[in-house]
Amino acid sequence: MAIDDYWYKNAVIYCLNVATYMDFNGDGIGDFEGLSRRLDYLAGIGVTCVWLQPFYCSPNRDNGYDVSDYYGVTPRFGTSGDFVEFMNHAQALGMRVVVDLVANHTSDQHPWFQSARSDPRSPYRDWYVWSDKRPPTHATGMVFPPEQKTTWTRDRAAGQYYFHRFYEFQPDLNTHNPAYRDELYKIMGYWLQLGISGFRMDAVPFLVERKGAGVKPVKDFALLQEMRRFLQWRCRDAILLAEANVPPGESMEYFGDEGDRLQMMLNFPVNQRIFYALATSDVEPLRRALRETLDNIPRDAQWVQFLRSHDELDLGRLSETQRERVFAVFAAERSMQIYNRGIRRRLAPMLRNDRRRMELAFSLLFALPGTPMLQYGDEIGMGEDLSLNEREATRTPMQWTDEPNAGFSLAKKTVLPLIDDPIFGFRKVNVNAQRRDPASFLNWTARLIRARKECVEIFWGKCEVLETNAPAVLVLKCSFRNAAMITLHNFSDSAHTVRLKLKGREGRCLVDLLAEEHSRADNRGWHEIALDGYGYRWYRLGSADETLTRATY
Ligand code: NOJ
Ligand code: CA
Repeated sequence: MAIDDYWYKNAVIYCLNVATYMDFNGDGIGDFEGLSRRLDYLAGIGVTCVWLQPFYCSPNRDNGYDVSDYYGVTPRFGTSGDFVEFMNHAQALGMRVVVDLVANHTSDQHPWFQSARSDPRSPYRDWYVWSDKRPPTHATGMVFPPEQKTTWTRDRAAGQYYFHRFYEFQPDLNTHNPAYRDELYKIMGYWLQLGISGFRMDAVPFLVERKGAGVKPVKDFALLQEMRRFLQWRCRDAILLAEANVPPGESMEYFGDEGDRLQMMLNFPVNQRIFYALATSDVEPLRRALRETLDNIPRDAQWVQFLRSHDELDLGRLSETQRERVFAVFAAERSMQIYNRGIRRRLAPMLRNDRRRMELAFSLLFALPGTPMLQYGDEIGMGEDLSLNEREATRTPMQWTDEPNAGFSLAKKTVLPLIDDPIFGFRKVNVNAQRRDPASFLNWTARLIRARKECVEIFWGKCEVLETNAPAVLVLKCSFRNAAMITLHNFSDSAHTVRLKLKGREGRCLVDLLAEEHSRADNRGWHEIALDGYGYRWYRLGSADETLTRATY
C-alpha cells in the first residue's frame, strides 16, 4: 500500500515548456489549451508526471526563468481558466503536475525590484542584495560565462550595485528576508491549491546561500526544512525536486539526514558520467557515481535520472581531460559547446541518430535506480538547431506531423523556428509517422516504459553495481524483498560475453523481460551472456510469474 503513497518513486516525468509544445489559438506560441489536447498522447506513452517549465508572467529573456509575476499564467500561454482546465484533464488521466519554482531571483521587471530600486525606504529594498561599492568578487561566480561578465551590476535608479548569480536581468532575492519568505509560502500555497503535486526548485545551491558583499557564502539549509514543512502541511503527498548540481558527498545536506528536506534531486553526477561512458566506453566513473549517489540518499528520497534537459549538457564536474574527451566525440565544433563547460545539443544527433546507441541510452535511463525524466521530443529523436542562441538550440517546437510547422501551429511565424533538415526535420521525424510504425523509436520507448513501470525492484528496491569480466558493460542488480532483476548495458561498439554467477536458486534462470533471450546457468551456476555492440538486457531472476506471485508487496 505504501508504494502508492510514494508516487514519486515510480513516476515517469516528462519535462516541457508550454511555449513550444502545442499552439491551439494559432498565434505561433504554444498554450495551455494546446497542451491539454496533448495530455492523452503523454498518458499513452506512459508519462505519469508533467514538469512544466515556468509559465508565469515574464519578459522572457531566460525562457521564463525571469519571473515578473508569480501568480497566474502569462497571457502568451492563455488564462488561469485554461490552466485549471489543463489541471482538470491531467487529474482525469491520473497524471501529476510539477511546476518550476524560481525562488532564487526575479526578473528586473518584477514590481518588487522596480520598487526596491526606486526607493531606499521601499519595503522591498531588502528583498534584494545591494552594495554601495562594486565588491572585489564581482567577476567571480557567474553561471553563464563568458556571455555573463559579472555578478554585481550597478543600478542607476538605486545608486547601488545589486547581486545576480545569473544574467543581470535576474536580480537575486535575499532569501533570508522574513517578509520574502512569507511571500514565497504564499506562492507555493497558491499553486498547491490549484492542484499541483510539487515544485521543481530552481538553483537550490544559490537559493540557500547567504548573500551579500563581503558575506561568506555559507549555505543555510534550514530554509529547505522550512519549505518542506510548509509544503507537507498544505498538501501531504506533494514533493520538492531540486535542481542542484553538487557532488554526491553534499547531497545529504539537501535531502536532510532525516529525509526532512527535499524528496528528490536531479542526479547530475550520474548524468555527466553517462555521457562520459557513451563517449568513451569507459564505464568506471559511472559505476563510481552510481555507488556514491546511492550511498548518499535517505530511505524515502529518490534520485531523478535523466539524459538531456532543457539546459546545456553540463560537464562542469568532470575532470578537464574527461570533459575534453566528451567534447571531442559529442561537440567537436566550437559552436556546439557553451559556457566553457557544456554542450548545447540534443541526444539523437549526439548519438548520430544510431538506433542501437539511442536504445542503449534510453534503456539505461529506465533501468537506473531512481525516477526517470524525459525531455520532450527525445522520445521521437528530435534534433537541434545550432543557428539559434545559446541553449535555444535544443528548445525548438515539438514535431507532431509532417504538415507545415510540424502540426505545432497554424501561424506564419512560430516562437522558435521548426527544425527542417533532411535527417531531423519534421518531415522525417514526427509523432504521427512514428505512431503508425510499430518499430519506431516512439513505440519502442512506450513499450520500454510499460515494462519499467512493472519493475518494482528498480524504483523501490536496493540497487548494487556488480563487477564482471566485461569492463565496458554496466551490470546492475536491483532487489526488493524476494524479487530481483539484473540489467546489462554494453557501452562499447564491440560484442562482449559477460560471465555472471548469482546466488540462490532463482539466480540459475534469468528471464528476459524485453525479448526471448532467457539465460540458464551452467552446472556450476555460471551464466554466459553474449551482448552485441551497444547491447542491453533486462532480466528477472527466477521466473517472471513466480516472482510476481511470491513478492508480498
Ligand atoms: C536553471 C534553469 O534550468 C535554467 O534554464 C535557468 O536559466 C537558470 N536556472 C536560472 O533560472
Ligand atoms: Ca498560442
